[in-house]
Amino acid sequence: MVREILVWPHPVLKQKAHPVTTVDDSTRALIKDLFDSMYAADGVGLAAPQIGVLKNVIVLDTTPRQPEAKPLAMVNPEILTYEGKIEYKEGCLSIPGEAEDVDRAAIITVRFLDEQGVEQTLKCEGLLAIAVQHETDHLKGTMFVDHI
Ligand code: NI
Repeated sequence: MVREILVWPHPVLKQKAHPVTTVDDSTRALIKDLFDSMYAADGVGLAAPQIGVLKNVIVLDTTPRQPEAKPLAMVNPEILTYEGKIEYKEGCLSIPGEAEDVDRAAIITVRFLDEQGVEQTLKCEGLLAIAVQHETDHLKGTMFVDHI
């Protein structure tokens, strides 16, 4: 279901989200809503607080609607390593029409639970690395404009 995306400075966007204790059907329903809402808004990432749910869940797809599209859902994502630097003009579905250069790590390693609750570790570079850093920031109540 496509959910309304909260727009800054909505107070929920400044709050910290909470860890998911069990990945269950309600988590998977939340993940589906996040994907539906992200694709409907033409985004490449979305975090649960952006639809008003303070849980540590993010979704990403840096190549939406393309044959090589690889939708990724991450529950309780934790970035373990940061390497290098990359600057990229970021936007955010919660700050429509704004885009600013932000410095991020170029390569990261992230650990998370997948939709089945299985722990995964993934090395990310380029746009995916940027998107994971941007979306995990949302779980801490941080917006990309806070980095400028
Ligand atoms: Ni955002």
